[in-house]
Amino acid sequence: MRVWISDLKDHVGKEVQLKGWVYNSRSSGKIKFLLLRDGTGLCQCVYFKGECDEAAFEVFSGLTQEALVEVSGLVKEEKRSPGGFELSARTLKILSPSVDYPISPKEHGTDFLMTNRHLWLRSKRQHAILRVRAEIIASIRDFFDGRGFTLIDAPIFTPSACEGTSTLFETQYFDDKAYLSQSGQLYMEAAAAAFGKAYCFGPTFRAEKSKTRRHLIEFWMVEPEVAFNDLYDNMDLAEQFMEYIVQRTLKNRAEELKSIERDTSGLEKIKGPFPRLHYEEACKIIKKENPDFKDGDDFGAPDETIISSQFDKPVFVHHYPAAIKAFYMKADDDDPKYSMSCDLLATEGYGEIIGGGQREESVQTLIGKIEEHSLDQKDFDWYLDLRKYGTFPHSGFGLGLERCVAWICGLNHIRETSPFPRLYGRYHP
Ligand code: 4AD
Ligand code: MG
Repeated sequence: MRVWISDLKDHVGKEVQLKGWVYNSRSSGKIKFLLLRDGTGLCQCVYFKGECDEAAFEVFSGLTQEALVEVSGLVKEEKRSPGGFELSARTLKILSPSVDYPISPKEHGTDFLMTNRHLWLRSKRQHAILRVRAEIIASIRDFFDGRGFTLIDAPIFTPSACEGTSTLFETQYFDDKAYLSQSGQLYMEAAAAAFGKAYCFGPTFRAEKSKTRRHLIEFWMVEPEVAFNDLYDNMDLAEQFMEYIVQRTLKNRAEELKSIERDTSGLEKIKGPFPRLHYEEACKIIKKENPDFKDGDDFGAPDETIISSQFDKPVFVHHYPAAIKAFYMKADDDDPKYSMSCDLLATEGYGEIIGGGQREESVQTLIGKIEEHSLDQKDFDWYLDLRKYGTFPHSGFGLGLERCVAWICGLNHIRETSPFPRLYGRYHP
């Protein structure tokens, strides 16, 4: 019976068949070791001369990295073996060859690995990172599904900008032009009026013409939007959400995080409440270390690091100047120079992982903002309807999935967090 390596624990003492790819092989006299990879795990298969089939030894000498093989043998518990089990192997058959596999255990440059991303996924580290990503995705869905939110998918082709016109990806839409979605937020605002608590989770696109360790061209964003939540409710929700994701991932992906040598002691402290700073307070902290910073400026990555290095938990900065935030942000009634916005800055210098806030409710104010931002009002007629027919206080936020994965895995570049990353200057394979 063929079994998955991850299920070997259920077959101890039994004869099984495994199929998989050759991860590694080595010989020492009368014993040969095959490290087999089937995607669910690694298993050491041990061939003893005299105990295994005679033909197996000869077949073994023809093994190459990533050849597909079929083996059979007896499952044994073996603490020292990867995965905790070992196969006392009997047979060995090569099912399909692999000649000159380009990725060897030696060091390769990043560019080479990115070009071979389709193969690089097979390596242990990439496997672990993407397993963490999958767990984070599952935890995001469970968090909202378990709290009465309805999943409402936002479209990818959109008629207008949500996050400023400078990073729009234009595309042909038959005789018209459309843009790839920068954010599902505007649609989630419609969904919040229809469903109360809604979220979308899907790919978003930004034509960012810069190479940084934090920016992808295509990234996944989860965006909850809640009717009747104000800015402070919004931060409460984001806080509970982050705590849930981090703690569940630490618990369910401990093995993967260990295999990429992530020191998780800092992440274990990620529990609410998180510190909250008014923009003005954050500016004071920045100015102590960055004398060039001026009040009213947006934060650069180094400024975010200055703030987050003061805390051992993620920190909210709220009330950014309205002038540096998007058109839909509600202005503070007491001081309209500031917006009811909030960003969450991750620990360890990972920067902004969440952006959000309370939305403008007044149709007149919103029309003014659309004009101020040089946007075309007719593109937003439907959005203004949400203010005409029972306008309501509401708030939401967006978490960038890949930034969250980079932070939890402790990676120094965002490119490894996506199975097939789209970067400035690269969209192959
Ligand atoms: O701060 P942003 O631009 O906010 C919005 O798009 C809002 N409409 C969200 C909302 O309120 N519903 O983006 C939100 C998050 C950022 O905090 C960051 O984590 C991520 O999306 N992000 C990126 N991640 C990777 N590459 C990029 N180029 C990113 N741009 C934003
Ligand atoms: Mg932002």
